[in-house]
Amino acid sequence: MYSELGSQGSHILHPLRAIMKLRVLASLFALCVAFVGATPNPISGSDNISVRDPAIWYNPDTRKYYVFSTDDGIKIFTATALTGPWTRSGSVLPNGSSINLSSNQGLWAPDVNYIQGLYTVYYSVSIIGSQNSAIGVATSPSMEPGTWTDLGQVIRSSPSDVFNAIDPNIIDDNGLKLSFGSYWQGMYQIGLWPGVKDQASALPGTHLAGGNGRAAEGGFVYKPASSQYFFMFFSAGITPLAGSTSRPAAGQEYKVLVGRGASAMGPFYGQLGNQLTQDNTGTLVLGSHDNIYAPGGQSIFRDPVSGRDVIVYHYVRNSDPNGSPSYLGINYLDFSSGWPVVVS
Ligand SMILES: *[C@@H]1O[C@H](CO)[C@@H](O)[C@H](O)[C@H]1NC(C)=O
Ligand SMILES: *[C@@H]1O[C@H](CO)[C@@H](O)[C@H](O)[C@H]1NC(C)=O
Ligand SMILES: *[C@@H]1O[C@H](CO)[C@@H](O)[C@H](O)[C@H]1NC(C)=O
Repeated sequence: MYSELGSQGSHILHPLRAIMKLRVLASLFALCVAFVGATPNPISGSDNISVRDPAIWYNPDTRKYYVFSTDDGIKIFTATALTGPWTRSGSVLPNGSSINLSSNQGLWAPDVNYIQGLYTVYYSVSIIGSQNSAIGVATSPSMEPGTWTDLGQVIRSSPSDVFNAIDPNIIDDNGLKLSFGSYWQGMYQIGLWPGVKDQASALPGTHLAGGNGRAAEGGFVYKPASSQYFFMFFSAGITPLAGSTSRPAAGQEYKVLVGRGASAMGPFYGQLGNQLTQDNTGTLVLGSHDNIYAPGGQSIFRDPVSGRDVIVYHYVRNSDPNGSPSYLGINYLDFSSGWPVVVS
């Protein structure tokens, strides 16, 4: 930058030119600082796609990305590129889940993986504020609508439990680990073996994050290929729901936090060294910025096309009235500093 500017001027600078040059340099420097410091907006192509709690995967045979979202038996959106255009192509379980709960038609907070030769979606059955919840699982050979088989219930919770059986997340690391839970006494993890719905360790399992009724949910454990660490992402704060008439106090809204650890089973620590099970802990990954309000419901995946780590999340447009829907945000993550940074 400096040498390019220098090559344009005379070697013996007139004082006025020198001042102007300093001003140009100062403003360029300010621009660079702003650029490095600012959180980039979501990549283009998905800002009109209404989702909650999105999860994403790629099928190399159909050469399509599949985004799964809360509601309507888990909505499916497809695109041939991360930049869209995204098409609503159907639902995982359009007739709801076989789980015997009255709330088994909506289905929430999907998690998608490729496990044992099948695309596998874990989903939640619940109603807002209830611990009468369950996590179920469905599989498909392709992820296309109409190809999904519901395998039904994996785990369930009731008001006497310390956890809520929602917000499933699977990591396949020396066997399947199912993380789940929110609010109440926090997020937990059990093993599954040998099948995708076979509980291999006792509930509630290992306490990973949250607790004391804290607004912390949507845990997601991820191991970047480029890092020795496992990262546990979660959403902290109040999520604005469609139809809500007010916003939480500034700073209390949804945001994405993270901790890291040496194992997929934790313990996970924030950058200040506090374990995620302690109060007020976790390192900020993504908060409100520009027109992005209350981002959360995140999931992370390695895009096999670009080889990059991708975060997908929902957010509300800051410029929209209260109660408006949330939209699909997609960004890349850079772990080279040792912690995830949202990048373009
Ligand atoms: C979103 O915008 C794109 C580009 O304008 C358009 O092709 C697509 O149909 C829109 N999708 C929805 C769900 O509105
Ligand atoms: C959903 O239910 C309708 C009506 O019973 C039926 O025709 C349809 O095949 C069902 N779809 C699936 C995917 O099971
Ligand atoms: C479903 O749950 C209800 C309420 O707990 C119970 O009465 C009913 O027997 C259950 N049905 C099945 C098929 O288990």
